[in-house]
Amino acid sequence: MSPQISPSILSADFARLAEEAEAVRGADWLHVDVMDNHFVPNLTLGLPVVESLRKATDIPLDCHLMIEDPDRWAPQYAEAGAGSVTFHVEAAAAPIRLARQLRSLGARASMALKPATPIEPYEDLLPELDMVLLMTVEPGFGGQSFLDVVLPKIRRTRQLLDRHGLALWLQIDGGVSADTIERCADAGADVFVAGSAVYGADDPAEAVRALREQARAATERAPWVRPG
Ligand code: DX5
Ligand code: ZN
Repeated sequence: MSPQISPSILSADFARLAEEAEAVRGADWLHVDVMDNHFVPNLTLGLPVVESLRKATDIPLDCHLMIEDPDRWAPQYAEAGAGSVTFHVEAAAAPIRLARQLRSLGARASMALKPATPIEPYEDLLPELDMVLLMTVEPGFGGQSFLDVVLPKIRRTRQLLDRHGLALWLQIDGGVSADTIERCADAGADVFVAGSAVYGADDPAEAVRALREQARAATERAPWVRPG
């Protein structure tokens, strides 16, 4: 499978979301950042917007929930038709139960880690998941600088997936751009969120294609091999 690009609408014009989805036609996912002003110091959008967006675009929705109490709220995003639902492990009370619930509702279950949260304590949970999201900025805002300090964790996560023969996707979110995407692909990432690098470009759809091609070339040179 080739690398996937998930443009973040956090950097789009919220008054024109249907057109902004159309502007990234060809993207693998549309990344929807849900923030509650408690888990992170910012407030964005929630379920009604996701429900409307679901009707306005064919691109599958990749909902990233930066919220407290995902055990209570996340299943509703799966019911709303999100293709992938990501909760933060720092906020989840019962991540295994939640992942199973998301899968039973037909969504891909994904778990996110902030930059300082280690992956190792969650090794045994990995088979319960379809994707792990490693944040490469502190969650809350678009347009921040990529944190190189997370690269060793990306490598270790890829090694864990290899060791267990797991086909989970490894998503990177924050500061992904033409300058940083190759480092992420080399370390083992295969799904790339990009907000400002896509919506800040003159031609967002072309930016998606260019990022994917850069990631593909870097993955071919990389020391790891994706299962399947
Ligand atoms: C940050 C969000 C990201 C953000 C990425 O908390 O989770 O998805 O939109 O934006 P860029 O790509 O500009 O760093
Ligand atoms: Zn995000």
